[in-house]
This record gives sequence, C-alpha cells and structure tokens, in this order.
Amino acid sequence: MFKLSEEGLAFVKKELTRYEIKNSAIIPCLFQVQKENDNWISDDCISHLAEVMDIPESKINEVFHFYTMFNKKPVGQFHIQVCCNISCAMNGGREIADHIRNTYGVKPGEVSADGQLSVIQVECLGSCGTAPMMQVNDQYYENLTQDSAVETLNKLAK
Ligand code: FES
Repeated sequence: MFKLSEEGLAFVKKELTRYEIKNSAIIPCLFQVQKENDNWISDDCISHLAEVMDIPESKINEVFHFYTMFNKKPVGQFHIQVCCNISCAMNGGREIADHIRNTYGVKPGEVSADGQLSVIQVECLGSCGTAPMMQVNDQYYENLTQDSAVETLNKLAK
C-alpha cells in the first residue's frame, strides 16, 4: 500500500496552500507521488493522494488520465520518451524509436527483461527546433541520430 514519505506529505501540504482552489495542486502532487513510486502511479497511489489532499479520487483521476506524463503502469529504470510529432517525425523520430526498441529488444509500452528500459512514442516535447529529440526520465536529448540515441542510452546504463 503506497504512502507518501514525510517529505512528500510536507510537499503536498505546502502545495495545497499555494492555490485558491485545491484541485490546482493535483498536478505537482501527482509528480511527487510518481517520484516516490518508481516513476509510475498505481490505484493505491491515487487513493492515498485523494485522502491526503481531501479531494475525491474521481477528480484526481480526471487529471491523471488526461496527461501522458503520468505513467499508468511500471516503467523501466530509464523511461525513454521519443518525440514522434511533426518536426521530430520528419527528422527520423519514429525510426529512432524503432532503432532503440530493436537494439535493446523491448516492445512498445513494455519494460525490458532486465527492468532497465521502457520506450514509448510521445507527442511534441517542446523543442521542435532541435528535432529529433527524446526525454529519458527528467533529461532531454536533442539533435539525435539513431546512433547518438543509442550511445546516449549506453552511457546512462553504465
Ligand atoms: S515535434 Fe518533437 S519536439 Fe516538437
């Protein structure tokens, strides 16, 4: 059963004081929960957060299911999000995502057998001028090629 840490509880309480409407604190609080739960959010997490924030689970679920940055199932130690929106797609983003999956033998939306990697395709990550790009956990990597993407990941996984 998921429970926020003392630090996490303090964070949520502080966020709740920052906005006129409590619901406005849901996004930062979901990020805190995700950080404390191996980078994904389970039903237990939602229930706990609803209790701590004193907000109905349905309200938290509305936000949780709308945004793709909240992971709905377990992800790898390195969660790779390859942008496949227009600028990145025109510059080989989809091929980079395929190349990463083929190199490490991981299927779309699944976690590699060793638990290290998961790879998904996402919409615009906000750096179209340096396409193609990917996000690995909280870091961004731009102007990628198939080779440089794999080199980057090999360095991270060392
Ligand atoms: S299309 Fe990839 S960053 Fe915008």
